This record gives sequence, structure tokens and C-alpha cells, in this order.
Amino acid sequence: GVTDVGGKLGEKRNNPSVSSPPISKATSSSSAANQPPIKLGIPDSLYANLEQIQILACGTSWHASLVGKYLLEQLAGIPTMVQYASEFRYAPSPLMKNTLTIGVTQSGETADTLAALEMERQRRIDLGAEYEVKLLGITNRAESSLAHLVPHIIETHAGIEIGVAATKTFVTQLVAFYCLALDLAYRRKTLPLSKIAEIITGLRQLPAQIEIVLESQERYIEELAHDFSETQDFIFIGRGINFPIALEGALKLKEISYIHAEGYPAGEMKHGPIALLDAKVPVVAIAMPGMVYEKVLSNAQEAKARDARLIGVTPMNDEEAAHVFDNLLPVPVVDELLSPILTVIPLQLLAYHIAARRGLDVDQPRNLAKSVTVE
Ligand code: F6R
Repeated sequence: GVTDVGGKLGEKRNNPSVSSPPISKATSSSSAANQPPIKLGIPDSLYANLEQIQILACGTSWHASLVGKYLLEQLAGIPTMVQYASEFRYAPSPLMKNTLTIGVTQSGETADTLAALEMERQRRIDLGAEYEVKLLGITNRAESSLAHLVPHIIETHAGIEIGVAATKTFVTQLVAFYCLALDLAYRRKTLPLSKIAEIITGLRQLPAQIEIVLESQERYIEELAHDFSETQDFIFIGRGINFPIALEGALKLKEISYIHAEGYPAGEMKHGPIALLDAKVPVVAIAMPGMVYEKVLSNAQEAKARDARLIGVTPMNDEEAAHVFDNLLPVPVVDELLSPILTVIPLQLLAYHIAARRGLDVDQPRNLAKSVTVE
């Protein structure tokens, strides 16, 4: 399921009972002034007086939620916490008023996520109107248990994902978070309309850019995978909005290739994990132009000094990156803010081809189920 990035921006839905993330055509500031540039169909009551957001999720959905946190905080200015649903159930954060709780689950059936949301709903009801319940779901399954539990959902329209490892649903969860963060930014006036329009234009270009990554990288990554059929450990590093992509790259690799892999914020390497590095441990660094580009390159160079083989997810035609990395997985140059949707693709391909090279069943990895309906 790597190639299908799922629902088209602006797609209309058949089921009117749930909301979808269409983006209206407004890209000029004058038309955007009259109507919201994003139409999520979320009622104003859910957004009113919002002081914080908490997101509950597991696994890959938790990683998408970390990107969501970055967007909600940086674009819409709302403090956002991301919790593992399985942890939240037994140690919930202290209740605060004016909180929107978002459950993120592509299947809509993950037991821990559903139970954490139900617990949150119940403890707010118990405390009365002051702690108003505001629940939102992000899911790929409009008819799932999640959709029955929460009054509003954003459906991700990825199409059914058959492979156990979440790939296209991850990408579409990210798109849902861009839509939500932009909708909130519009309503809270935290971004100029021109910036919102610019991000929407960038989002619309991503499907074609993903095609470019697939076309230009697939063969190369398949070849590269030969080098790692005996590798036992991998490190993935990234910073800022691409730190969760490092986590996701590591999760994809461990889950389908059974290679031990860790994702770290690149700046944390020197606080311990750098001790793991030697010539046998490849390091994959996500280095995209923006606030943390030079920082990631310098973190990558620190790894190189420990003889690690360096693989870089980098902007296309970037000479500086070409000097630093042993292998390049280039993606089109986009605003750093949008880059996770592109940077995750070569990492999904890498996991896929290494697993295939090792003769493993990439769709049905051992010990895993598509939906975890038990605690
Ligand atoms: C990893 C993977 C799992 C799921 C997790 C949550 O590739 O698929 O980590 O992301 O089990 O599943 P959902 O999103 O259905 O709640």
C-alpha cells in the first residue's frame, strides 16, 4: 500500500453524517475573506473557547499525531498534547476545561484508543457542564466503532488498506491534520490568509511530487536494499516536524523487516544513542531545508565521524547534502512544513524493499494484526 496516497483534497463524500476534509478553491485572499478556505464541517461549538487539544492514538497513528501537534501549535497556536491511548487509560492527564480531545485511528477499532476516548467522555460527563465534552475522530473507516463513539469525524479517504503496516493511511492522516490546523488557524486568525492559501497550494502539489519520488526512487531503493539484508540495527534521525517521520521510518522497518531500528530527534543522539554507532549501524537522516536543516546536517556529520554509513532523505539536487551523505534519497524541494508527506515515502520504500530482499511477507508481518481490538 505505498503508492496510493488516498483521498483527493476536495473530494465530496456520500455520507452526510460525518465530515470530510475538503479544501475549497479559495486561494486568493479576497475570496478567502468571504468563506473559510477549508471546509471541514466541524461545528463552531467544538472550536469555541478552545485552550488546548489532547490527541489519543497508538502506533503509526501516534506518529501522525506528533506531526499534528507540530501543526496545531505552530499554525493555530493551540497547546497540544499527544498521548499513547494505552498509557492515557491508566494515567490520564489532569482534566482541564476547554479541551478538544481527538482520537486518531485509521481502523477506528483500536481497543485502547476507543477505551481512552470513552474514559475521557465519561469523566467529563461526571464533572458536569463546566468540563464540556468535545470529541473529534480522525479515521479511515466512516462506519467504524470510532465513528459511533465520537460525534464528529474527519475521514481520511485512503481507500481500504490491506497491508498490516500503515502507509497510505499515515499519509492521509497527515493531510487531515493539515486541514484541521489550517481551519483552526483561519478561525483563530493566527495566520495571514495569504499564508493559508500558500500552504493549500503546496498541499495540492503533493500528489504529483509523491509520484516524482516514487518514479525516481523505487529502482534505486530496491538496489540499495541489497546492502542491508544482513544489517541488524538502524538509526533514524530527524528534527522538528520531521522527527516523527524518523520514528515512523524506524517503525516501518522494524515491523516488516524485523531489523531493530530506533528513531531519535537528531539533537538527542549525543545524549546517549551515539554510543551505538559504528560501521555496522546505518543512520538515516531526514534533512530538509528549513529551520533545522544545518542542525541535522551537523548531527549527521557527527554520526559519520563514528564510521556510520549515512543515508540522507534530502532535497533534490542539493550539493551540500551530496557531500555529507553516502546515499541520497532525494525528494522535491517543498516548504519544510509540508515536507513530512514527501520524506516518509522513501522510508516506506526502504522498509518495503529491505523486507522483500530478506524474503519476508511485507503485507502480513509476523505477530501483527491490522486492527488491535484487544487491550
Ligand atoms: C504500524 C501500524 C500500527 C497501527 C496501530 C494503530 O504500521 O499499523 O502501529 O498504526 O496499531 O492502528 P489504528 O490506526 O487502526 O488505531
